[in-house]
Amino acid sequence: MERRLLWRIAKKREETPEAVTLVLEPVGGETVAYEPGQYLPLIRTFGSREERRAYSFSSCPGVDVLPALTVKRIPNGLFSTWLVRQARAGDMLESAEPAGRFLLPAQRPERLLYVAAGSGITPILSHLKAIFQKKDWSDVPLRLLYANRDSAHTIFKKQIDDWIAAWPERFEATYFFSRERGAAHAEHAHLNNALLERHLLDFVGGRANASARSSLLTYLCAPTPLMRMARMTMRTLGFPDERILQETFTPDPRLQRRQPDPSRRHHIVVALPDSQRVAFDTFEGETILQAALRQGIALPYTCKSGVCLSCLARCVRGEVDVQFVEQTRREGPGALVNTCIGYAVSDEVELAIG
Ligand SMILES: Cc1cc2nc3c(=O)[nH]c(=O)nc-3n(C[C@H](O)[C@H](O)[C@H](O)COP(=O)(O)OP(=O)(O)OC[C@H]3O[C@@H](n4cnc5c(N)ncnc54)[C@H](O)[C@@H]3O)c2cc1C
Ligand code: FES
Repeated sequence: MERRLLWRIAKKREETPEAVTLVLEPVGGETVAYEPGQYLPLIRTFGSREERRAYSFSSCPGVDVLPALTVKRIPNGLFSTWLVRQARAGDMLESAEPAGRFLLPAQRPERLLYVAAGSGITPILSHLKAIFQKKDWSDVPLRLLYANRDSAHTIFKKQIDDWIAAWPERFEATYFFSRERGAAHAEHAHLNNALLERHLLDFVGGRANASARSSLLTYLCAPTPLMRMARMTMRTLGFPDERILQETFTPDPRLQRRQPDPSRRHHIVVALPDSQRVAFDTFEGETILQAALRQGIALPYTCKSGVCLSCLARCVRGEVDVQFVEQTRREGPGALVNTCIGYAVSDEVELAIG
């Protein structure tokens, strides 16, 4: 069953008027393993309702002694407002285990591009801290394109400026400030496709350099429209889609839910990482996760909307419809399915987690 972790907020640091870093100490003192680019699924009860939100680590194992999360307040946002405005050093936090697949490659890459906006810098900061420690990656060229409204609202600007000064040969960062002119290393503009194209081609040595283009590894973490624009621009310029990784922070409000119909049921068996197996029924039109939670079965999840991937399970038997906003994928044995947006199709479905 799901393992829960307990943390004490050791320090709270203001990063911008709307963002804070929370340094976390595991209660009980045990080290919690995580990788740069992963997030911690925080769990808290507001009133009588349990809420979960993912927050990426801004810290890096081996560099920072304690894990840290950096949170930007979303206007009227339930969890982020509590973390930014109310949580205090000494308060306790509960979480599930670190999760996420926005990871550095196992092999040394040729060159790395990062595109971030706002709090999207958080997992990227963790990546960059790790990269600057890796001796055998010391000649990997790095480029960061980072969009914000102005310097004052740019999370980790001082750290990034320090890296620009420390690594002039290999690290280049450009800020895009929509509301500030004249800042160093900054363009006074929204990051649009023309600007992205210019920076991309400059980074890979021009349109003709096909090998630099095909070896570029890109990480995107920004609002969905900016990531969509970046992916389209890169596709048009011939950058391979499979070398573009993205982390999505915001659930898409267009996600459609089906109407549950209790008169038709499917039988689900899930093998859990601790070798236990759970079995339960779903109604037609109910997601596999919804059905499990309704019956008190603790399958892993965070966002419930198909973006964080903490609910991924491998399909062992049967068929599942995974319903994204713009497409529904029918998946069978061998495929990874998100149980939070996954609807059983066959009468029996067997899944394995972990
Ligand atoms: C994998 C992953 C990693 C994440 N890492 C971070 C991180 O490092 N730092 C961080 O600050 N946040 C991060 N987030 C976003 C975070 O999980 C919450 O979604 C965010 O803090 C809003 O939660 P809330 O309870 O304050 O807002 P809610 O009460 O859930 O939402 C209030 C309103 O804001 C909208 N909304 C929700 N999320 C966002 C968003 N991210 N941007 C704009 N509008 C939004 C909702 O549609 C709703 O209308 C991450 C999300 C994911 C999936
Ligand atoms: S719970 Fe986030 S993708 Fe399913």
